[in-house]
Amino acid sequence: MEVVIVPDEGAAARLVAGAIEDLLGQAAHPVLGLATGSSPLPTYRELARRRGDPTHISVAHARAFLLDEYVGLPFDHPLTYRNVIRRDFALPVGFPDDRLDGPDGSVDALPGSPADYEQRIADAGGIDLQLLGIGTDGHIGFNEPGSSLASRTRLKTLTDVTRRDNARFFGGEIDAVPRHVITQGIGTILDSRHVVMIATGAAKADPVARAVEGPVMAMVPASALQLHPHATVVVDEAAAADLRLADYYREAWAHKPDWQGL
Ligand code: GLP
Repeated sequence: MEVVIVPDEGAAARLVAGAIEDLLGQAAHPVLGLATGSSPLPTYRELARRRGDPTHISVAHARAFLLDEYVGLPFDHPLTYRNVIRRDFALPVGFPDDRLDGPDGSVDALPGSPADYEQRIADAGGIDLQLLGIGTDGHIGFNEPGSSLASRTRLKTLTDVTRRDNARFFGGEIDAVPRHVITQGIGTILDSRHVVMIATGAAKADPVARAVEGPVMAMVPASALQLHPHATVVVDEAAAADLRLADYYREAWAHKPDWQGL
């Protein structure tokens, strides 16, 4: 696992947007894994800003898969993750809607939709670069504490902590936050060829330290990234505050050969 400590969320966004552009420039059929939440938003804004650059690399040949989705929200609800990613990523970045895929969150599509989704990811050749945030309880996607580290895409029940955290998007009403979700499993996430987790702000210092430097365990789903051969954790100073090896991570990054990329 590589930990990169950057001064602020803008620096994190430039770094991660650069890695995405490198992938878009190198792969014939790049496949992105997209996350919702506030952590990847500056990266999406940075990608949108770069559309105006003369060296801009087109996204037209890429495909993208969402990490997770609420169950039971109407198709046209503005807070389905599909619609959030349309608004925050696809439209500003110019990503073609028909190349964007996500779990089917309709109740009627269960119980088959999670396995169908896994199959569609496999048919696309798997995910090259999976973006992740981290929940305050250490979750990734919607894999709550206790999730099997080998789990695949499936139906999950949200914890109260996560529903409370996400109530801010639903007018502050925890009861408006769906109880059920479909999420890529931890095993699914670990199948991605490169996982990039972004965490910024003091509220993430504790879950980041537990994920990066604590034991690998189902109670801290993000700790499973320690098992991934190419996992990058990009944190700002506030989110890095509880990392014991912070000085080592800084030194390793400062002396990293350019050719290695992210
Ligand atoms: C939700 C999403 C996760 C995200 C988490 C943290 O639970 N399902 O993918 O990582 O929120 O969100 P934020 O980045 O806003 O802190």
